Amino acid sequence: MCGIVGYTGPKEAYPIVITGLKRLEYRGYDSTGVALLNSGLKVYKKKGRVAELEESILGKDLHAHTGIGHTRWATHGEPSDRNAHPHTSASGKLAMIHNGIIENYAQLKKELGNKGYVFTSDTDTEVLLNFIEDIKENNQCDLEEAVRVALKRVTGAYVILLLDADSPDTIIAARKGSPLVIGVGKGEHFLGSDASPMLEYTKEVVYVNDYELAIVRPNELILKNLGNEKITPFVTKLDMELAEIEKGGYDHFMLKEIFEQPSTIHDCLRGRLDATAGTITMSGIQNNIEHFKNAQRIIMVACGTSWHAALLAEYIIEELCRIPVEVEYASEFRYRNPIVNKGDIIVAISQSGETADTLVAIERAKENGAIIFGVVNVVGSSIARISDGGAYTHAGPEIGVASTKAFTGQLAVLIMMALKIAKEKGTISDERYKNLLLELDAVPEKVNAILKNADALKAIALKYKGASDALYLGRGYNFPIALEGALKLKEISYIHAEGYPAAEMKHGPIALVDENLPVVFIATKDSYHEKIVSNIQEIKARKGKVIAVITEGDEIIPGMADDVFYIPEADEIIAPMLSTIPMQLLSYYVGIAKGVDVDKPRNLAKSVTVE
Ligand code: G6P
Repeated sequence: MCGIVGYTGPKEAYPIVITGLKRLEYRGYDSTGVALLNSGLKVYKKKGRVAELEESILGKDLHAHTGIGHTRWATHGEPSDRNAHPHTSASGKLAMIHNGIIENYAQLKKELGNKGYVFTSDTDTEVLLNFIEDIKENNQCDLEEAVRVALKRVTGAYVILLLDADSPDTIIAARKGSPLVIGVGKGEHFLGSDASPMLEYTKEVVYVNDYELAIVRPNELILKNLGNEKITPFVTKLDMELAEIEKGGYDHFMLKEIFEQPSTIHDCLRGRLDATAGTITMSGIQNNIEHFKNAQRIIMVACGTSWHAALLAEYIIEELCRIPVEVEYASEFRYRNPIVNKGDIIVAISQSGETADTLVAIERAKENGAIIFGVVNVVGSSIARISDGGAYTHAGPEIGVASTKAFTGQLAVLIMMALKIAKEKGTISDERYKNLLLELDAVPEKVNAILKNADALKAIALKYKGASDALYLGRGYNFPIALEGALKLKEISYIHAEGYPAAEMKHGPIALVDENLPVVFIATKDSYHEKIVSNIQEIKARKGKVIAVITEGDEIIPGMADDVFYIPEADEIIAPMLSTIPMQLLSYYVGIAKGVDVDKPRNLAKSVTVE
């Protein structure tokens, strides 16, 4: 949540900062602002999207070689011009942007208020900034020292970037809990919440760790801990191209990402799955294989769509590996007093690798001796770095706020994990193992076949776009897909939708059914097929409108449903990777038909770095 960008070097800072902000808009889009350091500080900020700020400051003096920029997801204070970052200090000499939450800001605000400070915004950021300035003036120290002293008193999460009018080429940055990447160029440095703002300039980056402070100048990058000891920056090479974060001819990132799935799933399987040889190569699992084989249980922690991937993994791992699995919302797990024993395996699933709740949940579990296994998409992200082992999903950058290709990547990794552990444990027959490998191998091609038929879903979407509510029902392996389908619809069409186990719907949601309620059934051919056919009858008996996603060749359901969408036949463990594709397309087309900005739906952010 909130995107931050910085630049210092010989180039003009503004174009780099504003382009970087556009790439980071997925992190929040309530307001935008830049601070430029030339002869003095210039701050431009505004409620709304990056493009709106850009237009409003056309023709203004934007010349500078050092600058910072911010795109906001509001926490403290409504989205408005005055709550937009950067904030300036009482003296007007410091400007700061912030991603995170300062939890003890009220106490600090009170202390500063008693000293006569007046605040112009409702933000915790302005409080921290003036706290830093107050320390600088009272202790008569430099800004770097003041930041260090201030951060030792702060609780919460932050990445901050600071400009000082008296140090025209310097950016001071610090991190705890929120992500910060520094790009190292020739005589220049770039800063960002992720690497996207610097991709065309450098591939050499430093991931800043918690409790580290960076003093960044064109020719110098000094990294220190809060105890003022120098740390050698560890430079890593980025494996990402600019084209991966562009729309590539599609109207929206979401559509591009949906259509990329045949190749992203293929990339995820490539080099790991060899269906002919009957092998799965996953070093993260192999290195921990004894732990997995002997595990008394696995706990999965995640949020949002990643939580749905975890739920499906529970069904699959329990079936194939006979290891008990618990699935936890990271936000609940971190605050209750869960029983975590030494040797328990915690699987953290996260697209961004930065979700604050998931990150803290695994930090806690690690303290209790658990082994942390990360299933993460963003290479080098915080969760990936603190995990003891893991497997990347290799879906490439996902920019649309609603997760699509990262989800199918997570499913591919989790299914491979389950198969590999089951094989090593001897809990799966050779025949079933070989068959599932072949089935998994065939997924990219089958996803391709589904995508070719996307127009059929567009037609269904247009028919139901006026609905105010929708129900998504599935059983067994398709139940998590029902939850995911409902979440997708909510996120990008603002239609209230609920996912339910198809049989459980009799205990409540059935009261909502009338001739206006669309009910989406995920009813592929599996061991629950006859049961779900009965559930469809129950909805039809109450005049609900049934949209059913079914397996090619199904001759029963088309006779009772209002609309059907066919997907290729697949083993029931693999089928969710296919049945989720029509869920994504249906919500996309409903969202578009309703005029929603599907890549940036209201109130949401892609990377939730506040709890
Ligand atoms: C946000 C995003 C979701 C995502 C969830 C968890 O809510 O909008 O798409 O599923 O965060 O994020 P993570 O990066 O941990 O998978």
